[in-house]
Amino acid sequence: MKFSEKIEALKKELSSHQPSDLDAVEAFRIKYLGSKGLFKDLFQEFKSVSSEEKRAFGKVLNGLKNEAEEKVNSWKEQLSEQKTEKVSIDLTRPSMLRELGAEHPISIIKREIIDIFHGIGFSVAEGPEIEDDWHNFTALNFPPEHPARDMQDTFFVRNPNGEEDHVLRTHTSSVQVRVMTNEKPPIRIIAPGRVFRNEAVSARSHCIFHQIEGLYIDEGVTFADMKQTLEYFAKEFFGKSKIRLRPSYFPFTEPSAEVDVYWGLENEVDHRITKGTGWLEVMGCGMVDPAVLESCGIDPEKYSGFAFGMGLERSAMQRFQIPDIRMIFENDIRFLKQFQSTF
Ligand code: DAH
Repeated sequence: MKFSEKIEALKKELSSHQPSDLDAVEAFRIKYLGSKGLFKDLFQEFKSVSSEEKRAFGKVLNGLKNEAEEKVNSWKEQLSEQKTEKVSIDLTRPSMLRELGAEHPISIIKREIIDIFHGIGFSVAEGPEIEDDWHNFTALNFPPEHPARDMQDTFFVRNPNGEEDHVLRTHTSSVQVRVMTNEKPPIRIIAPGRVFRNEAVSARSHCIFHQIEGLYIDEGVTFADMKQTLEYFAKEFFGKSKIRLRPSYFPFTEPSAEVDVYWGLENEVDHRITKGTGWLEVMGCGMVDPAVLESCGIDPEKYSGFAFGMGLERSAMQRFQIPDIRMIFENDIRFLKQFQSTF
């Protein structure tokens, strides 16, 4: 077949072609435009035709090739549009329900307490769970032979040399020391965290539990400031406006007190949780002992402050009527998914 005839034949073929799907488009592309396609052959042949034929067909050949390429592109577009049109999607249909995780009861209580103190200018501080003796005891004014350091209460941690010079912190009061040694007053922090005590595990007590510590240091902070702050907290958190402070003892505060909230005695539960007194013990507190300020490099002549510490499990158990503290740590999904903040 002569070159001119080949081009005529090709022209015809191209104009009559109508692929029905994307596979057919691809087959067309390979047959005509592929690296071993018809156009390739024709361009090869073009090199050796006479110069009149070159003049006559050069433009035509290029034009046909462009035309074929455009066709391939537009077929592809058309056919892929058709493809998506065929799948019917109902965009108004509600999505499948996704199962959401629930907040842990301890996290709920913790978040609520942080929110309350945030509102009166306290920020959150953190410290390590593995703590040295100085931060957990010495700086907090625990005498060397204080029973709290005893094997009974404290989990000791051995260092690589075999010395037991660290502990799993027994309270979040260690964070007070960390903050006071690192920051200058005014200090207003709360420190939520896990604490550890070497105690027998039962329905009412556990070797792991959570506390929130509070600390406020500035010039001229008084016992009255502490009482006001704690009253405010009791109102916000428990919805109870009456508290009382009972004298108590902690090595790191002087004077020290135990805070009771007046719960009332309206029903059987009130009787049970307050042991028939109407009062519920909720935290320990006191004015930071000057010796503690001094240990932490704060001048007790210039500054004073108060501190408080409370457990979270008791509040969580009360709020959510959890009968056994162990449930809080077992991570049974059927237990965990039940709780919601009432805030
Ligand atoms: N650290 C104490 C405990 O674990 C609680 C406590 C009492 C913290 C009085 C304080 C405080 O900051 O002032 O039993």
